[in-house]
Amino acid sequence: MPIPNLGATQTKFKMADKTPYVYRRWHNHSALKLIFWACIVAAFIILLIFRSPSPDFSSEKPPTATWGGLKWENRVQMSALTTSSRHLTVLVTGAAGFVGSHVSLALKKRGDGVVGLDNFNNYYDPSLKRARQKLLSKAGVFIIEGDINDAALLNKLFDIVQFTHVMHLAAQAGVRYAMKNPGSYVHSNIAGLVSIFEACKSANPQPAIVWASSSSVYGLNSKVPFSEKDPTDRPASLYAATKKAGEEIAHTYNHIYGLSITGLRFFTVYGPWGRPDMAYFFFTKDILKGKSINIFEGPDHRSVARDFTYIDDIAKGCVAALDTAGKSTGSGGKKKGPAQLRVFNLGNTSPVPVSKLVSILEKNLKVKAKKNVLPMPRNGDVVFTHANISYAQKELHYKPTTDLETGLKRFIHWYKDYYSGNRKKSS
Ligand SMILES: *[C@@H]1O[C@H](CO)[C@@H](O)[C@H](O)[C@H]1NC(C)=O
Repeated sequence: MPIPNLGATQTKFKMADKTPYVYRRWHNHSALKLIFWACIVAAFIILLIFRSPSPDFSSEKPPTATWGGLKWENRVQMSALTTSSRHLTVLVTGAAGFVGSHVSLALKKRGDGVVGLDNFNNYYDPSLKRARQKLLSKAGVFIIEGDINDAALLNKLFDIVQFTHVMHLAAQAGVRYAMKNPGSYVHSNIAGLVSIFEACKSANPQPAIVWASSSSVYGLNSKVPFSEKDPTDRPASLYAATKKAGEEIAHTYNHIYGLSITGLRFFTVYGPWGRPDMAYFFFTKDILKGKSINIFEGPDHRSVARDFTYIDDIAKGCVAALDTAGKSTGSGGKKKGPAQLRVFNLGNTSPVPVSKLVSILEKNLKVKAKKNVLPMPRNGDVVFTHANISYAQKELHYKPTTDLETGLKRFIHWYKDYYSGNRKKSS
Protein backbone atom coordinates (compact mmCIF):
# COMPACT_ATOMS: atom_id res chain seq x y z
CA MET A 1 0.00 0.00 0.00
CA PRO A 2 1.46 3.41 -0.88
CA ILE A 3 2.29 5.66 2.04
CA PRO A 4 -0.51 8.22 2.35
CA ASN A 5 0.48 11.75 1.54
CA LEU A 6 0.08 13.27 4.97
CA GLY A 7 0.79 16.81 3.93
CA ALA A 8 -1.95 16.95 1.32
CA THR A 9 -4.59 19.57 1.82
CA GLN A 10 -7.96 18.14 2.55
CA THR A 11 -10.07 19.65 -0.20
CA LYS A 12 -8.63 18.05 -3.29
CA PHE A 13 -9.41 14.36 -2.90
CA LYS A 14 -9.61 12.44 -6.15
CA MET A 15 -10.81 8.88 -6.66
CA ALA A 16 -7.80 8.22 -8.91
CA ASP A 17 -5.23 8.96 -6.17
CA LYS A 18 -3.15 5.90 -6.94
CA THR A 19 -2.93 6.47 -10.70
CA PRO A 20 0.58 7.90 -10.91
CA TYR A 21 1.93 5.08 -8.75
CA VAL A 22 0.47 2.35 -10.93
CA TYR A 23 1.31 4.22 -14.10
CA ARG A 24 5.01 4.44 -13.33
CA ARG A 25 5.27 0.67 -13.01
CA TRP A 26 3.75 -0.05 -16.42
CA HIS A 27 4.60 2.83 -18.70
CA ASN A 28 7.30 1.02 -20.68
CA HIS A 29 4.95 -1.63 -21.98
CA SER A 30 2.59 -0.29 -24.58
CA ALA A 31 0.23 -3.31 -24.61
CA LEU A 32 -0.10 -3.11 -20.85
CA LYS A 33 -0.58 0.59 -21.20
CA LEU A 34 -3.59 -0.05 -23.41
CA ILE A 35 -5.05 -2.51 -20.89
CA PHE A 36 -4.39 0.02 -18.16
CA TRP A 37 -6.36 2.75 -19.90
CA ALA A 38 -9.15 0.34 -20.75
CA CYS A 39 -9.39 -0.44 -17.04
CA ILE A 40 -9.53 3.26 -16.21
CA VAL A 41 -12.41 3.74 -18.64
CA ALA A 42 -14.20 0.68 -17.22
CA ALA A 43 -13.64 1.94 -13.68
CA PHE A 44 -15.04 5.29 -14.67
CA ILE A 45 -18.18 3.69 -16.09
CA ILE A 46 -18.62 1.58 -12.94
CA LEU A 47 -18.16 4.71 -10.86
CA LEU A 48 -20.90 6.47 -12.81
CA ILE A 49 -23.26 3.55 -12.29
CA PHE A 50 -22.62 3.50 -8.55
CA ARG A 51 -23.01 7.22 -8.23
CA SER A 52 -26.48 7.26 -9.69
CA PRO A 53 -29.19 7.33 -7.03
CA SER A 54 -30.28 3.89 -5.89
CA PRO A 55 -33.62 3.39 -4.18
CA ASP A 56 -32.33 0.35 -2.28
CA PHE A 57 -30.46 1.93 0.62
CA SER A 58 -28.76 -1.23 1.78
CA SER A 59 -27.19 -2.06 -1.56
CA GLU A 60 -24.50 0.63 -1.63
CA LYS A 61 -21.06 -0.94 -1.78
CA PRO A 62 -18.24 0.36 0.38
CA PRO A 63 -15.33 1.87 -1.57
CA THR A 64 -12.98 -0.72 -0.09
CA ALA A 65 -13.65 -4.17 1.26
CA THR A 66 -10.54 -6.24 1.49
CA TRP A 67 -10.50 -8.80 4.21
CA GLY A 68 -9.85 -12.45 4.81
CA GLY A 69 -6.95 -14.86 4.67
CA LEU A 70 -4.63 -16.25 7.31
CA LYS A 71 -2.35 -13.24 7.35
CA TRP A 72 -5.33 -10.97 7.84
CA GLU A 73 -6.70 -13.13 10.68
CA ASN A 74 -3.32 -13.03 12.31
CA ARG A 75 -3.22 -9.24 12.24
CA VAL A 76 -6.73 -9.08 13.70
CA GLN A 77 -5.80 -11.45 16.52
CA MET A 78 -2.56 -9.60 17.27
CA SER A 79 -4.45 -6.33 17.50
CA ALA A 80 -7.01 -7.93 19.84
CA LEU A 81 -4.39 -9.06 22.36
CA THR A 82 -4.74 -7.57 25.83
CA THR A 83 -1.95 -7.01 28.31
CA SER A 84 -3.84 -9.00 30.94
CA SER A 85 -7.06 -10.97 31.30
CA ARG A 86 -8.61 -8.11 33.28
CA HIS A 87 -8.62 -5.96 30.17
CA LEU A 88 -11.36 -5.49 27.62
CA THR A 89 -11.30 -6.77 24.06
CA VAL A 90 -13.05 -4.13 22.00
CA LEU A 91 -14.21 -3.92 18.41
CA VAL A 92 -14.23 -0.21 17.51
CA THR A 93 -16.27 0.64 14.41
CA GLY A 94 -15.45 3.92 12.70
CA ALA A 95 -11.94 3.55 14.12
CA ALA A 96 -10.41 5.82 11.47
CA GLY A 97 -12.94 8.50 12.36
CA PHE A 98 -12.51 11.42 14.72
CA VAL A 99 -13.94 9.97 17.93
CA GLY A 100 -13.11 6.39 16.93
CA SER A 101 -9.39 7.03 16.55
CA HIS A 102 -9.14 8.83 19.90
CA VAL A 103 -11.07 6.13 21.75
CA SER A 104 -9.04 3.35 20.10
CA LEU A 105 -5.79 4.97 21.19
CA ALA A 106 -7.04 5.53 24.75
CA LEU A 107 -8.08 1.89 25.06
CA LYS A 108 -4.87 0.51 23.55
CA LYS A 109 -2.77 2.73 25.79
CA ARG A 110 -4.16 1.20 28.95
CA GLY A 111 -3.74 -2.36 27.72
CA ASP A 112 -7.06 -3.28 26.15
CA GLY A 113 -7.23 -5.30 22.95
CA VAL A 114 -8.56 -3.12 20.13
CA VAL A 115 -9.61 -4.09 16.62
CA GLY A 116 -10.77 -1.25 14.37
CA LEU A 117 -13.23 -1.40 11.52
CA ASP A 118 -13.75 1.38 8.99
CA ASN A 119 -14.88 1.67 5.38
CA PHE A 120 -12.77 4.79 4.73
CA ASN A 121 -15.56 6.38 2.72
CA ASN A 122 -15.09 9.76 1.12
CA TYR A 123 -17.75 11.78 2.96
CA TYR A 124 -14.76 13.88 3.92
CA ASP A 125 -11.11 13.71 2.83
CA PRO A 126 -10.06 10.08 3.30
CA SER A 127 -6.40 11.08 3.56
CA LEU A 128 -7.21 12.39 7.04
CA LYS A 129 -8.61 8.96 7.89
CA ARG A 130 -5.48 7.34 6.47
CA ALA A 131 -3.31 9.58 8.63
CA ARG A 132 -5.30 8.57 11.71
CA GLN A 133 -4.94 4.93 10.64
CA LYS A 134 -1.19 5.36 10.54
CA LEU A 135 -1.23 6.77 14.05
CA LEU A 136 -3.25 3.79 15.29
CA SER A 137 -1.05 1.34 13.44
CA LYS A 138 1.99 2.73 15.26
CA ALA A 139 0.15 2.12 18.53
CA GLY A 140 -0.57 -1.49 17.52
CA VAL A 141 -4.20 -1.08 16.47
CA PHE A 142 -5.14 -2.76 13.19
CA ILE A 143 -8.07 -1.24 11.31
CA ILE A 144 -9.98 -3.65 9.11
CA GLU A 145 -11.15 -2.10 5.85
CA GLY A 146 -14.72 -3.15 5.58
CA ASP A 147 -18.31 -2.16 6.06
CA ILE A 148 -20.58 -2.59 9.08
CA ASN A 149 -23.26 -3.84 6.67
CA ASP A 150 -21.07 -6.79 5.69
CA ALA A 151 -22.60 -9.54 7.85
CA ALA A 152 -20.11 -12.16 6.67
CA LEU A 153 -17.23 -9.97 7.80
CA LEU A 154 -18.79 -9.32 11.22
CA ASN A 155 -19.53 -13.01 11.77
CA LYS A 156 -15.99 -13.90 10.78
CA LEU A 157 -14.64 -11.33 13.23
CA PHE A 158 -16.67 -12.69 16.14
CA ASP A 159 -15.48 -16.16 15.10
CA ILE A 160 -11.83 -15.36 15.45
CA VAL A 161 -11.96 -12.91 18.40
CA GLN A 162 -14.03 -13.09 21.59
CA PHE A 163 -14.91 -9.44 21.89
CA THR A 164 -16.09 -8.43 25.36
CA HIS A 165 -17.25 -5.03 24.06
CA VAL A 166 -18.23 -3.26 20.87
CA MET A 167 -17.69 0.48 20.62
CA HIS A 168 -19.91 1.33 17.69
CA LEU A 169 -18.96 4.76 16.35
CA ALA A 170 -19.27 4.20 12.59
CA ALA A 171 -22.04 6.44 11.25
CA GLN A 172 -23.01 8.88 8.57
CA ALA A 173 -22.49 12.18 10.38
CA GLY A 174 -23.48 15.73 9.49
CA VAL A 175 -26.84 17.43 9.63
CA ARG A 176 -26.88 19.35 6.34
CA TYR A 177 -25.55 16.54 4.12
CA ALA A 178 -28.73 14.55 4.87
CA MET A 179 -30.58 16.74 2.38
CA LYS A 180 -28.10 15.75 -0.34
CA ASN A 181 -27.72 12.08 0.40
CA PRO A 182 -30.53 10.77 2.61
CA GLY A 183 -29.85 7.15 1.65
CA SER A 184 -26.43 7.24 3.21
CA TYR A 185 -27.98 7.98 6.64
CA VAL A 186 -30.39 5.07 6.36
CA HIS A 187 -27.60 2.81 5.13
CA SER A 188 -25.11 3.58 7.94
CA ASN A 189 -27.17 4.70 10.90
CA ILE A 190 -30.10 2.32 10.60
CA ALA A 191 -29.17 -0.68 8.41
CA GLY A 192 -25.60 -0.58 9.71
CA LEU A 193 -26.69 -0.41 13.34
CA VAL A 194 -29.03 -3.37 12.87
CA SER A 195 -26.21 -5.29 11.20
CA ILE A 196 -23.97 -4.66 14.25
CA PHE A 197 -26.74 -5.65 16.70
CA GLU A 198 -27.44 -8.81 14.68
CA ALA A 199 -23.79 -9.87 14.80
CA CYS A 200 -23.60 -9.11 18.56
CA LYS A 201 -26.80 -10.96 19.32
CA SER A 202 -25.53 -14.11 17.57
CA ALA A 203 -22.03 -13.94 19.07
CA ASN A 204 -21.13 -16.29 21.87
CA PRO A 205 -20.57 -14.79 24.34
CA GLN A 206 -22.51 -11.66 23.44
CA PRO A 207 -20.46 -8.48 23.85
CA ALA A 208 -21.74 -5.36 25.62
CA ILE A 209 -22.34 -2.50 23.21
CA VAL A 210 -21.66 1.21 23.57
CA TRP A 211 -22.67 3.30 20.57
CA ALA A 212 -22.84 6.92 19.44
CA SER A 213 -26.25 8.52 19.43
CA SER A 214 -26.39 12.30 19.21
CA SER A 215 -27.50 15.43 21.01
CA SER A 216 -29.46 16.18 17.84
CA VAL A 217 -32.21 13.83 19.08
CA TYR A 218 -33.40 16.72 21.28
CA GLY A 219 -34.43 18.42 18.05
CA LEU A 220 -36.83 21.29 18.53
CA ASN A 221 -36.87 21.03 22.35
CA SER A 222 -36.55 24.42 24.00
CA LYS A 223 -36.30 23.32 27.65
CA VAL A 224 -32.68 23.59 28.72
CA PRO A 225 -30.47 21.99 29.77
CA PHE A 226 -31.37 18.86 27.80
CA SER A 227 -31.94 15.86 30.06
CA GLU A 228 -32.06 12.21 29.09
CA LYS A 229 -35.64 12.04 30.34
CA ASP A 230 -36.84 14.83 28.05
CA PRO A 231 -38.97 13.82 25.05
CA THR A 232 -37.04 13.27 21.81
CA ASP A 233 -39.85 12.97 19.32
CA ARG A 234 -39.30 16.15 17.31
CA PRO A 235 -36.06 15.64 15.34
CA ALA A 236 -35.15 18.55 13.08
CA SER A 237 -33.07 16.59 10.58
CA LEU A 238 -32.94 13.18 8.98
CA TYR A 239 -29.61 12.67 10.76
CA ALA A 240 -31.32 13.22 14.11
CA ALA A 241 -34.20 10.98 13.11
CA THR A 242 -31.86 8.09 12.24
CA LYS A 243 -30.08 8.47 15.59
CA LYS A 244 -33.40 8.53 17.40
CA ALA A 245 -34.45 5.44 15.43
CA GLY A 246 -31.21 3.84 16.60
CA GLU A 247 -32.17 4.41 20.23
CA GLU A 248 -35.50 2.67 19.65
CA ILE A 249 -33.80 -0.19 17.79
CA ALA A 250 -31.41 -0.52 20.73
CA HIS A 251 -34.42 -0.92 22.98
CA THR A 252 -35.76 -3.82 20.96
CA TYR A 253 -32.42 -5.68 20.82
CA ASN A 254 -32.04 -5.21 24.55
CA HIS A 255 -35.58 -6.40 25.16
CA ILE A 256 -35.61 -9.40 22.85
CA TYR A 257 -32.03 -10.67 22.99
CA GLY A 258 -30.63 -9.42 26.32
CA LEU A 259 -27.94 -7.25 24.75
CA SER A 260 -26.36 -4.73 27.11
CA ILE A 261 -26.55 -1.43 25.22
CA THR A 262 -25.41 2.08 26.12
CA GLY A 263 -26.14 5.04 23.84
CA LEU A 264 -24.08 8.21 24.12
CA ARG A 265 -25.54 11.53 23.02
CA PHE A 266 -22.48 13.53 21.97
CA PHE A 267 -22.67 17.34 22.01
CA THR A 268 -20.61 19.02 19.22
CA VAL A 269 -17.31 17.21 19.65
CA TYR A 270 -14.23 19.15 18.53
CA GLY A 271 -10.45 19.00 18.76
CA PRO A 272 -7.26 17.75 17.06
CA TRP A 273 -7.86 15.25 14.22
CA GLY A 274 -11.43 16.56 13.99
CA ARG A 275 -13.91 16.40 11.13
CA PRO A 276 -13.44 18.91 8.29
CA ASP A 277 -17.21 19.26 7.82
CA MET A 278 -17.63 20.94 11.19
CA ALA A 279 -17.84 24.72 11.56
CA TYR A 280 -14.83 25.25 13.87
CA PHE A 281 -12.73 23.27 11.35
CA PHE A 282 -13.76 24.98 8.11
CA PHE A 283 -13.90 28.40 9.79
CA THR A 284 -10.24 27.91 10.68
CA LYS A 285 -9.42 26.92 7.12
CA ASP A 286 -11.36 29.80 5.56
CA ILE A 287 -10.10 32.45 7.99
CA LEU A 288 -6.51 31.43 7.25
CA LYS A 289 -7.25 31.63 3.51
CA GLY A 290 -8.85 35.06 3.85
CA LYS A 291 -12.19 33.66 2.67
CA SER A 292 -15.35 35.02 4.24
CA ILE A 293 -17.35 32.80 6.58
CA ASN A 294 -21.11 32.57 7.06
CA ILE A 295 -22.36 33.00 10.61
CA PHE A 296 -25.96 32.01 11.08
CA GLU A 297 -28.33 33.52 13.59
CA GLY A 298 -31.67 32.25 14.82
CA PRO A 299 -35.07 33.96 14.62
CA ASP A 300 -35.14 37.48 16.19
CA HIS A 301 -31.33 37.68 15.82
CA ARG A 302 -30.88 35.05 18.54
CA SER A 303 -27.34 33.82 18.43
CA VAL A 304 -26.72 30.21 17.57
CA ALA A 305 -24.93 28.42 20.41
CA ARG A 306 -23.39 25.00 20.88
CA ASP A 307 -22.31 23.00 23.88
CA PHE A 308 -18.83 22.33 22.42
CA THR A 309 -17.22 19.29 23.98
CA TYR A 310 -13.51 18.56 23.77
CA ILE A 311 -12.47 15.24 22.27
CA ASP A 312 -10.43 14.04 25.28
CA ASP A 313 -13.41 14.56 27.56
CA ILE A 314 -15.59 12.59 25.13
CA ALA A 315 -13.02 9.79 24.85
CA LYS A 316 -12.94 9.48 28.65
CA GLY A 317 -16.73 9.30 28.68
CA CYS A 318 -16.66 6.52 26.06
CA VAL A 319 -14.11 4.51 28.01
CA ALA A 320 -16.10 4.96 31.23
CA ALA A 321 -19.24 3.77 29.46
CA LEU A 322 -17.39 0.61 28.38
CA ASP A 323 -15.99 0.05 31.88
CA THR A 324 -19.38 0.38 33.55
CA ALA A 325 -21.32 -1.60 30.95
CA GLY A 326 -23.12 -4.62 32.35
CA LYS A 327 -22.74 -7.98 30.64
CA SER A 328 -25.16 -9.00 27.92
CA THR A 329 -27.32 -11.84 29.19
CA GLY A 330 -28.25 -13.75 26.05
CA SER A 331 -26.53 -16.63 24.34
CA GLY A 332 -27.15 -18.49 21.11
CA GLY A 333 -29.38 -15.63 20.04
CA LYS A 334 -31.70 -16.18 23.05
CA LYS A 335 -32.30 -13.89 26.00
CA LYS A 336 -31.59 -15.38 29.45
CA GLY A 337 -32.50 -12.40 31.60
CA PRO A 338 -32.85 -8.62 31.68
CA ALA A 339 -29.84 -6.64 30.49
CA GLN A 340 -28.66 -3.08 30.92
CA LEU A 341 -30.03 -0.34 28.64
CA ARG A 342 -28.68 3.18 29.14
CA VAL A 343 -28.51 6.57 27.42
CA PHE A 344 -26.15 9.36 28.51
CA ASN A 345 -25.58 12.95 27.50
CA LEU A 346 -21.90 13.65 26.96
CA GLY A 347 -21.59 17.42 26.73
CA ASN A 348 -19.65 20.22 28.33
CA THR A 349 -22.62 22.03 29.99
CA SER A 350 -21.52 25.45 28.78
CA PRO A 351 -23.06 26.57 25.50
CA VAL A 352 -20.95 29.07 23.57
CA PRO A 353 -22.37 31.39 20.88
CA VAL A 354 -20.85 30.85 17.46
CA SER A 355 -19.70 34.50 17.46
CA LYS A 356 -17.57 33.70 20.51
CA LEU A 357 -16.17 30.63 18.74
CA VAL A 358 -15.13 32.89 15.86
CA SER A 359 -13.51 35.47 18.13
CA ILE A 360 -11.45 32.76 19.85
CA LEU A 361 -10.33 31.53 16.43
CA GLU A 362 -9.44 35.08 15.32
CA LYS A 363 -7.40 35.67 18.45
CA ASN A 364 -5.46 32.44 18.13
CA LEU A 365 -4.97 32.58 14.37
CA LYS A 366 -4.11 36.30 14.61
CA VAL A 367 -6.32 36.94 11.57
CA LYS A 368 -9.51 38.97 11.45
CA ALA A 369 -12.39 36.94 9.99
CA LYS A 370 -14.56 38.27 7.15
CA LYS A 371 -18.02 37.55 8.46
CA ASN A 372 -21.40 37.34 6.72
CA VAL A 373 -24.21 37.20 9.24
CA LEU A 374 -27.18 35.37 7.74
CA PRO A 375 -30.47 33.99 8.99
CA MET A 376 -30.18 30.27 9.67
CA PRO A 377 -31.51 28.28 6.72
CA ARG A 378 -33.99 25.54 7.52
CA ASN A 379 -31.59 22.71 6.86
CA GLY A 380 -31.82 20.71 10.06
CA ASP A 381 -29.61 22.72 12.39
CA VAL A 382 -31.02 23.71 15.76
CA VAL A 383 -30.40 27.07 17.42
CA PHE A 384 -29.15 25.95 20.78
CA THR A 385 -27.75 22.87 22.56
CA HIS A 386 -26.97 22.52 26.25
CA ALA A 387 -26.38 19.22 28.03
CA ASN A 388 -27.47 18.24 31.49
CA ILE A 389 -24.70 15.78 32.36
CA SER A 390 -25.67 14.91 35.92
CA TYR A 391 -26.59 11.33 34.99
CA ALA A 392 -23.21 10.72 33.30
CA GLN A 393 -21.49 12.37 36.27
CA LYS A 394 -23.22 10.00 38.63
CA GLU A 395 -22.84 6.76 36.67
CA LEU A 396 -19.65 7.31 34.64
CA HIS A 397 -17.88 9.86 36.84
CA TYR A 398 -17.83 11.88 33.66
CA LYS A 399 -16.38 15.32 34.25
CA PRO A 400 -15.39 17.48 31.27
CA THR A 401 -12.35 19.61 32.09
CA THR A 402 -11.50 21.44 28.86
CA ASP A 403 -13.07 24.81 28.04
CA LEU A 404 -13.50 25.97 24.45
CA GLU A 405 -10.58 28.42 24.59
CA THR A 406 -8.12 25.73 25.69
CA GLY A 407 -9.53 23.11 23.33
CA LEU A 408 -9.44 25.38 20.28
CA LYS A 409 -5.84 26.33 21.03
CA ARG A 410 -4.94 22.65 20.88
CA PHE A 411 -6.97 22.20 17.70
CA ILE A 412 -5.24 25.12 15.97
CA HIS A 413 -1.85 23.83 17.04
CA TRP A 414 -2.67 20.47 15.47
CA TYR A 415 -4.25 22.04 12.38
CA LYS A 416 -1.19 24.16 11.57
CA ASP A 417 1.15 21.27 12.14
CA TYR A 418 -0.92 18.83 10.08
CA TYR A 419 -1.51 21.08 7.09
CA SER A 420 1.92 22.68 7.01
CA GLY A 421 3.34 19.49 5.55
CA ASN A 422 5.59 19.19 8.57
CA ARG A 423 4.84 15.60 9.47
CA LYS A 424 8.14 14.70 11.14
CA LYS A 425 6.72 14.97 14.65
CA SER A 426 3.89 12.58 15.32
CA SER A 427 0.52 13.88 16.59
C1 LIG B 1 -30.51 17.36 35.31
O1 LIG B 1 -30.99 16.03 35.23
C2 LIG B 1 -31.27 15.44 36.50
C3 LIG B 1 -31.70 14.03 36.24
O2 LIG B 1 -30.67 13.28 35.63
C4 LIG B 1 -32.31 16.25 37.24
O3 LIG B 1 -32.52 15.70 38.52
C5 LIG B 1 -31.87 17.70 37.35
O4 LIG B 1 -32.90 18.46 37.91
C6 LIG B 1 -31.51 18.26 35.98
N1 LIG B 1 -30.95 19.60 36.14
C7 LIG B 1 -31.46 20.68 35.52
C8 LIG B 1 -30.77 21.97 35.79
O5 LIG B 1 -32.41 20.61 34.76
